[in-house]
Amino acid sequence: SAVINDSASFLLHLLLLAELLVHSSGRHAHISPLCGMFGSMIPQVDRLMNSSKQLHDLTTEELLNFAAVEHRLHSLPHIQYTAAYFSSLKVNESLSQLYSYSQSFKLHVDWLKTAKENVSLPVQAAESSSIHLQQISNLINASLHQISADVPQSTPPSLPDVSTAFDALKFSVELSGRLEAFCSWSKRVLRHLQRLSHCPKH
Ligand SMILES: *[C@@H]1O[C@H](CO)[C@@H](O)[C@H](O)[C@H]1NC(C)=O
Ligand SMILES: *[C@@H]1O[C@H](CO)[C@@H](O)[C@H](O)[C@H]1NC(C)=O
Ligand SMILES: *[C@@H]1O[C@H](CO)[C@@H](O)[C@H](O)[C@H]1NC(C)=O
Ligand SMILES: *[C@@H]1O[C@H](CO)[C@@H](O)[C@H](O)[C@H]1NC(C)=O
Repeated sequence: SAVINDSASFLLHLLLLAELLVHSSGRHAHISPLCGMFGSMIPQVDRLMNSSKQLHDLTTEELLNFAAVEHRLHSLPHIQYTAAYFSSLKVNESLSQLYSYSQSFKLHVDWLKTAKENVSLPVQAAESSSIHLQQISNLINASLHQISADVPQSTPPSLPDVSTAFDALKFSVELSGRLEAFCSWSKRVLRHLQRLSHCPKH
């Protein structure tokens, strides 16, 4: 009877082990709440990309005349595009960086809006860029809270006064290009975070 008991307890162990395996694979199938956030952020970044392109209404040819214009917005974030950067991304650190960058771009876009208003240039694209940046920031803020990470504080940059329409246009061209680069980078980061968080493909 000792033999029967042993094999019964062996079977019981096997059953427990099987159950454990089912549970742990079930945990992998559990979808991170961040996935929904990433899914909402990507279309916002697409909308931001659209409005950044419209920050100036120059044609591609006209834009060539601005290629040599010196870059003056030194307070904009310096974005890293290296493979090493992307391979070492961590969810909390990347979200925190995305948040700081969105906030910084929003401060610059709001400044540009005032500058354009001052010289009577249209401000619609700056306004919608600002709204999209705020929506992106809100989503990142919610995500940071979800993973109990700190929300970084930003200090407002000191930005120049703009006195002519031509100067405002030059700043629009510069900010437009930098925003587009930020959008491409953000999308890459978000896709990477989706993979890191095992978000389902759609
Ligand atoms: C971007 O703009 C184009 C044309 O202006 C429009 O067709 C497209 O739907 C817009 N995309 C987004 C995500 O707003
Ligand atoms: C991110 O999380 C790691 C642990 O998972 C922690 O060591 C690190 O300090 C966090 N970084 C930030 C910016 O919160
Ligand atoms: C960030 O999110 C938290 C919690 O959802 C909220 O209480 C807080 O007001 C938000 N902060 C900003 C700056 O949006
Ligand atoms: C816009 O005009 C106001 C009022 O003259 C001025 O205080 C502000 O500095 C100007 N903003 C920019 C960005 O030039």
